[in-house]
Amino acid sequence: MDRLLEGKRVLLGVTGGIAAYKSCELARRLIRLGAEIQVVMSEAATRFVTPLTFEALTQRPVLTDLFRPEAGSRATVHVELGRWPDLVLIAPATYDFIGKLACGLADDALSALVAAAEAPVVLCPAMNHAMYAKPALAENLNRLRQWGYRIVGPERGELAEGEIGWGRLAEVETILDAVEYELLRHDALHGRRVLVTAGPTQEPVDPVRFITNRSSGRMGYALAQAALWAGAEVTLVSGPTPLQPPRGVGFVSVRTAAEMAEAVERHWPQTEILFMAAAVSDYRPSQVAEHKLKKGEGPTLRLDLEKTPDILAWAGQNKGARILVGFAVETENELANAMEKLRRKNLDLIVVNNPLEPGAGFETDTNRVTILDAEGHLDDWPLLSKLEVARRLVFRVGQLWQQRHP
Ligand SMILES: Cc1cc2nc3c(=O)[nH]c(=O)nc-3n(C[C@H](O)[C@H](O)[C@H](O)COP(=O)(O)O)c2cc1C
Repeated sequence: MDRLLEGKRVLLGVTGGIAAYKSCELARRLIRLGAEIQVVMSEAATRFVTPLTFEALTQRPVLTDLFRPEAGSRATVHVELGRWPDLVLIAPATYDFIGKLACGLADDALSALVAAAEAPVVLCPAMNHAMYAKPALAENLNRLRQWGYRIVGPERGELAEGEIGWGRLAEVETILDAVEYELLRHDALHGRRVLVTAGPTQEPVDPVRFITNRSSGRMGYALAQAALWAGAEVTLVSGPTPLQPPRGVGFVSVRTAAEMAEAVERHWPQTEILFMAAAVSDYRPSQVAEHKLKKGEGPTLRLDLEKTPDILAWAGQNKGARILVGFAVETENELANAMEKLRRKNLDLIVVNNPLEPGAGFETDTNRVTILDAEGHLDDWPLLSKLEVARRLVFRVGQLWQQRHP
């Protein structure tokens, strides 16, 4: 579990709708991500969920009354708390509360806090579909959007009353994505077009069998996510994995090395940075049997293999002033082999990992990598989550881009 939001302060505002119970899960998930949470509830919200539940989850007093501030020592708690958060998240946000914000009112603890807050505000509306259809709401949301509020959801789906319609609180995952984006975004790759390849490839032997490898795709998916946080426009070309592509990437699903090569050839000319994190099969069966291979009489079976297209070498030959990052999985002479690969394939950076080290390589959430650049500089990073490796790598590539395009 990544503690991505370690040290970040989130003020969670809960207003009086049925979906208030989902905020408990939201608070729990934010805490697991490492965030510090201060809950502030409208009076109506306390009719749906008790402050005690949030106090138990967050280990902090909940603020409900501006004039009896349990959550602060001073009378000017709204100003004090207004300065505290890195982000204000209001989920659920009622029809009423949205109206209040759009009118610039500050007549209870939460609205006064939003008025005094300097941090960005993420608002997650949730209500009955008839309330959601009202022009007053549309206008209020538009106004808030123009003022810089980020509106997440609502979604269409089953509502509290059992009807289907628009108004359902965005899924917790969607809200967390928005919170992570708001808290982690930066502009190291702002406006850059980034291509990432990820996962293994599968090379068919017959209609039911294939040759593949142990790549989980996690490193490439983490890179796609980190590049999005860095402001890039991201295309992710992925071999088969069970992972969910990060929201906001252009996703291209492929199976074989030939399909991956075709996808990279199509996208590389329009992109500026390529992270080639996929574990592409070097070989494939020369012939794919039309029918399932039967168990033969003899003790062995021979498969003839032929080389697959070398995607990285192709991208290196067609690179120009763009940036190409390769990955090397080496189990011996790691650095010498990686440096040789960097030169041979015309890479700018190579990320070296040794899958035999504990916590590194395939099928783990962590990685221990060494980064080499074309000048021979070496950066040895400690054991980190793949997301943290991706974040650092994105910063490193951002610097490289700045040097090349001052
Ligand atoms: C059972 C019940 C469910 C409600 N659900 C919602 C809802 O999902 N969304 C909403 O905007 N209002 C809902 N309301 C209405 C709000 O609670 C009401 O407008 C209240 O004044 C909101 O106060 P607040 O915005 O200060 O939290 C509901 C009311 C009741 C009694």
